[in-house]
Amino acid sequence: MKKVVLVTGANSGIGLALCERLLSQDAQLQLCLACRNMQRAEAARQALLVSHPQAQVTLLHLDVGNMRSVLRAAEEFKQKYNRLDYLYLNAGIMPNPRVDHKAFYKGLFSSNVVHMFATGEGLLTQEDKVTPNGLQEVFATNLFGHFLLVRELEPLLCQMDHNSLVIWTSSSNARRSAFSLDDIQHQKGREPYSSSKYASDLLSLALNRHYNNRGLYSSVICPGLVMTNLTYGILPSFFWTLIMPIMWLIRIFTNTFTLSPYNGADALFWLFMQKPESLDPMAKYHSLTSGLGNNYTQPHKVRTDSQILSLIFFMPILECMDFHVSQLLFLFVPFIMDTVHK
Ligand SMILES: NC(=O)c1ccc[n+]([C@@H]2O[C@H](COP(=O)([O-])OP(=O)(O)OC[C@H]3O[C@@H](n4cnc5c(N)ncnc54)[C@H](OP(=O)(O)O)[C@@H]3O)[C@@H](O)[C@H]2O)c1
Repeated sequence: MKKVVLVTGANSGIGLALCERLLSQDAQLQLCLACRNMQRAEAARQALLVSHPQAQVTLLHLDVGNMRSVLRAAEEFKQKYNRLDYLYLNAGIMPNPRVDHKAFYKGLFSSNVVHMFATGEGLLTQEDKVTPNGLQEVFATNLFGHFLLVRELEPLLCQMDHNSLVIWTSSSNARRSAFSLDDIQHQKGREPYSSSKYASDLLSLALNRHYNNRGLYSSVICPGLVMTNLTYGILPSFFWTLIMPIMWLIRIFTNTFTLSPYNGADALFWLFMQKPESLDPMAKYHSLTSGLGNNYTQPHKVRTDSQILSLIFFMPILECMDFHVSQLLFLFVPFIMDTVHK
């Protein structure tokens, strides 16, 4: 049976590198690129077909930050395919990132310096905005749209004859301290990216609790620091090129500087090679690269002070899985309901 794989944010960076690696591994794969910009999606498809002319690569229009687009895309996917083996939730944004210079200089002269460079912890702030759905954009794109997609594709993901795997691209920037149960969309803070990635770590844990007995497994990965459009939004590409020798040097001390999209996609690819049921539901799988440039994947426990936290947060959402989607949205974020029905 040919495996069916859906990748969000597949037209550039880590997502595109993953697609390339998946097709090199399994030429029979049915690969669907889910992207918001169809021109860029078609360019990515053509690039993949150059190296894999026989590959079956289709496109799906999906703006994961727009809930109506998610519902439409899920419907279209269900009409085209009757199974889904791997769902890569990789699309993500970090809008208007700013480096906190004060935190940078403070960290530079502290014992925390390697950790600071390895994770970006406390270094970056972002300016979020509200989408037409009434949601915070970062929350909607990085987390909620993907959650809705999982929910809508549940009939394909939960099938009797095979297990399926949902894989979230998280970050080492996912921090407990950036996330608050009182402000799950991070409306009040300045680190919505970190908050959304921490929430996706928790959601992955909760999905395992709820779905493993129905054959659906969830994993979360961290790609390390990778040179992509996302990082070029933080500092211009010429700057990164300038400091590249320093980063190669730092890589001797920290293996999280994966740097290339190929290396960054390692954990995503590694998971494709595993049996979903053999994975640790509490682990976050890290793409790592040694000082000599060898890439590998290693699991670390998801950093959460209490597993109960995730369950408190997500249980009510997951428990209403049998409801119509508008009710699900109503329970999760009441103000979104009207927009979805417009
Ligand atoms: N680069 C890093 O160092 C790093 C570190 C940790 C985690 N990550 C995570 O890795 C993932 C991939 O990012 P990347 O580094 O490869 O950056 P990237 O090249 O900018 O890729 C992001 C992808 O997400 C897509 N996307 C963004 N908003 C979307 C939306 N509303 N609907 C559909 N697609 C959308 C983008 O499409 P467009 O081309 O249309 O914008 C693009 O294909 C993200 O989740 C990011 O948070 C990256």
